[in-house]
Amino acid sequence: MKKDTLLAQIGRDPGRYQGMVNTPVFRTSTVIFPDLASYEARGGGDYKKVRYGLYGTPTTFALEEAVAKMEGGYAAVALPSGLSAITAALCAFLRTGDHLLLTDSVYVPTRTFCDGRLKANGVEIEYYDPLIGAGIERLIRPNTKAVLCEAPGSLTFEMQDIPAIATVARARGIPVLADNTWGTPYYFRSFERGVDVSIHAATKYIAGHSDVMMGLIVTNEQYWQTVRKTVADYGFGVSPDDCYLALRGFRTIGVRMKQQMQSALAIARWLQKRSDVRRVIYPALEDDPGHQIWKRDFEGAASLFSFVTIPVSERAVEAFVNALKLFGIGSSWGGFESLIQVAHIKKYRTATQWDPGGPTIRLHIGLEDPDDLIADLEQAFAVMKKA
Ligand SMILES: Cc1ncc(COP(=O)(O)O)c(C=O)c1O
Repeated sequence: MKKDTLLAQIGRDPGRYQGMVNTPVFRTSTVIFPDLASYEARGGGDYKKVRYGLYGTPTTFALEEAVAKMEGGYAAVALPSGLSAITAALCAFLRTGDHLLLTDSVYVPTRTFCDGRLKANGVEIEYYDPLIGAGIERLIRPNTKAVLCEAPGSLTFEMQDIPAIATVARARGIPVLADNTWGTPYYFRSFERGVDVSIHAATKYIAGHSDVMMGLIVTNEQYWQTVRKTVADYGFGVSPDDCYLALRGFRTIGVRMKQQMQSALAIARWLQKRSDVRRVIYPALEDDPGHQIWKRDFEGAASLFSFVTIPVSERAVEAFVNALKLFGIGSSWGGFESLIQVAHIKKYRTATQWDPGGPTIRLHIGLEDPDDLIADLEQAFAVMKKA
């Protein structure tokens, strides 16, 4: 079955729910068992059966199954945010005295968690150059217990060679975790590229409508119990209403992402031609340094990318951003609406340097008509020039 057909099928079972086309919202805390024996045998170890509201209802399971199937993983678990999915996944593998390798381009709050909480608990944190590839071998120590990748970096968009990193790590029995929010289960089939544990901020394209906070961890069979038990131990659970919304959003991820990628490419190419833009950083562009890896490993691109302007004052950047009428100024991405953010990166680099010769601006391209977005950017560049 092709993936767009799969999207219409997964995560629902009308025969089980009186013909209802979507899996309904099941709200509960308590689950009543028919007798003591079945209560005492509840759940077993797989967390795939209803036992107590915290561990999921059929609504939760429908979303988790759909996402795991699309990505080609064994199973998935939903958490209250993308960040909680990252922190829970890391805690599943790391103890005092362990060593973690993670990309220098990682999502900044992940960095804050590692440099703060994990370090305080005695975990050694080491950042690697996102372009390291198989060279990661020289950083591996006897106590390395996890590698965390993110491809591309969510502000600077360096493309990582995940298969090369995974080949080295897995040969030593080290699990490979990846923040796959940009790739999504639709465009990056992590498990075929050597990832063991794939993490999503479902808040972005999976839910897709800027109205849900959620994370999902998808694992292969080997690491499912480790991850699922950690999530249960921490007591993370999500509301069935949010799961319903996320699955409703996920069902249209294909059409949304195809449209958004097309618009993002049109805008990125338009930006490339401007004299006030120094560089556009988007792996889907043919001349991007990460393009070959992207083309080899990904089936499409998210509509999130950055560009670097020629050197201009902070006041000019502010005037540019404030002049935009169709781009919201705010965090997040992956929804229906276009967004802009000025990326302050320098202070978050330790293994590499980020000095592209001008301010870095990140755009999320939504479902608006790209011609309108281009016209909006054009008038904002005119304002920037005068500032
Ligand atoms: C790459 C990446 N990972 C994880 C997250 C965290 O997701 P959430 O906001 O749902 O905690 C974000 C949020 O911006 C992100 O950009």
